Amino acid sequence: MKFFIDTANFDEIKEAYSWGILSGVTTNPSLVAKEPGVNFHDRLKEIAELVEGSVSGEVISLDAEGMIKEGEELAAIHPNITVKLPMTPEGLKACKHFSEKGIKTNVTLIFSANQALMAARAGATYVSPFLGRLDDIGHNGVELISTIADIFTIHDIKTEIIAASIRHPQHITDAALAGAHISTTPFNVLQQLFNHPLTAKGIEGFLADWSKRQGQ
Ligand code: E4P
Repeated sequence: MKFFIDTANFDEIKEAYSWGILSGVTTNPSLVAKEPGVNFHDRLKEIAELVEGSVSGEVISLDAEGMIKEGEELAAIHPNITVKLPMTPEGLKACKHFSEKGIKTNVTLIFSANQALMAARAGATYVSPFLGRLDDIGHNGVELISTIADIFTIHDIKTEIIAASIRHPQHITDAALAGAHISTTPFNVLQQLFNHPLTAKGIEGFLADWSKRQGQ
């Protein structure tokens, strides 16, 4: 499973990219709204020029015509831009359009296996099932990933599954085991993945022993 970061904050992206683990970035209108004064297109360009990999920018139109116009403007920013589209009939019409033009798409707000299958058939490069938001309403987000992964394997579907709405480190392990190709994760959760008390204790012990040796 590859790692994407789910943020529009450039400092977070730069830091996570420097760790050598990032294969892409996803943004959404709420994440961009957290960056006041930032021009959306300029930020996507800045991100795409730094990160080697897919950078999702989401449309806000609700009709296919508007989505296509917005998506074409986004795709013109950089070859790595992926047009993020909502899981609606209009979103799938736009998805089909971009797929025929060879422009990458990420169909977002996926909450069922049938939605994922439809998006894949409309030519989506990626589908984004939302784990955390499903867990929030008492459903099982990881189970959905696993079901989608099984269906895509049975039917030899090449669309990649992005485990989205990640809330904690266990989601990452579970999504990887369930067959997600990618997880898109907020910066604070990525930071948490480093943490293990035995790692910290081990470093402390090595340094203590080393400083004793220096005194000999
Ligand atoms: C997916 O691409 C979305 O940007 C994101 O993962 C949504 O997560 P949230 O439920 O934490 O808002």
